[in-house]
Amino acid sequence: MRIIFTDTYKKMSEEAAKIIAGQLWVKPDSVLGLATGSTPVELYQNLVWLYQTVGLDFSQATSFNLDEYVGLTVEDPQSYHHFMYENLFDHVNMRRDHIFFPNGMAEDAEREAEDYEARIAAAGGIDMQLLGIGRNAHIGFNEPGEAFAKATHKVALKESTIEANARFFASAAEVPREAMSMGIGTIFHARHIVLLASGAEKAEAVRDAVEGTITPSVPASILQLHPNVTLIVDHAAGALL
Ligand code: GLP
Repeated sequence: MRIIFTDTYKKMSEEAAKIIAGQLWVKPDSVLGLATGSTPVELYQNLVWLYQTVGLDFSQATSFNLDEYVGLTVEDPQSYHHFMYENLFDHVNMRRDHIFFPNGMAEDAEREAEDYEARIAAAGGIDMQLLGIGRNAHIGFNEPGEAFAKATHKVALKESTIEANARFFASAAEVPREAMSMGIGTIFHARHIVLLASGAEKAEAVRDAVEGTITPSVPASILQLHPNVTLIVDHAAGALL
C-alpha cells in the first residue's frame, strides 16, 4: 500500500484528482468505480475544474458507483444517484449510458446484485476504484461483520453508520436502513484502489485498516492484501499511522 500524507483536506483532494486525471489521460476509456460521501466532494470539484480548464475527457469513460440506498428513487435528493449527478456527472462529458448505479428500488435485490456484477464484468472490470472509509472502517456499505462479502448485495446498515449519515438527512429516522453495495470482492477486483480519508474521526479506522489484523470486523483491512492500493490521508486522518 502506498500512503500519501497530506496536510489538509484540500491537498488530499488535489492528490486524488491528479491520480484520477492521470488514469484518464493514460486510458481514456477507463472504468471507474466511484464513491459518495463528503470525502470525495472536493476531488469531484477538481475533476470538474480540470474538465473545464484543460479538457480532461470523460467521454470514453464508464463509471460504476459503489452503493445506493434501498428505497430512494433516483430523483430523491438524498440518493447517491442524485449526489453523483450534482457533484460530478452534470458537469463533465461522461456519457449517460456509461454511468451505472446499483438500483436501490429493484424489487428483486438478488437479481439486481447479479446484474450489477455482470455489467461490471462486461465492461472489463474496474480500472480504478475510489473509496472513502466509514468511522467503523466500512467501505462502500460493507459493514463490519462475520465474513467479507464477495459480490454486490443488499446490506442492513449499522446504527453507527445511520447516525454518521444522518447529517445528510432531516433526521436519523429518515436515513434508509438498507442499501445495495458492491461487495468486498467486487472492490478487491479493481486494478487500482484509491482510498481517501480526512478528519480526526477517521484516524482510528485508518490505523486499524492499515496496521491492524485483517478481519471482516474491520472491512477496509482486506486492502492490506491488495497489490495496488493508494491511501491518501490528510493530517488528522493519518495521525495514528
Ligand atoms: C457512506 C458511504 C461510503 C463512504 C462513507 C464515509 O456510508 N456508503 O462509501 O465512504 O459513508 O462517508 P464520508 O466521506 O461522508 O465520511
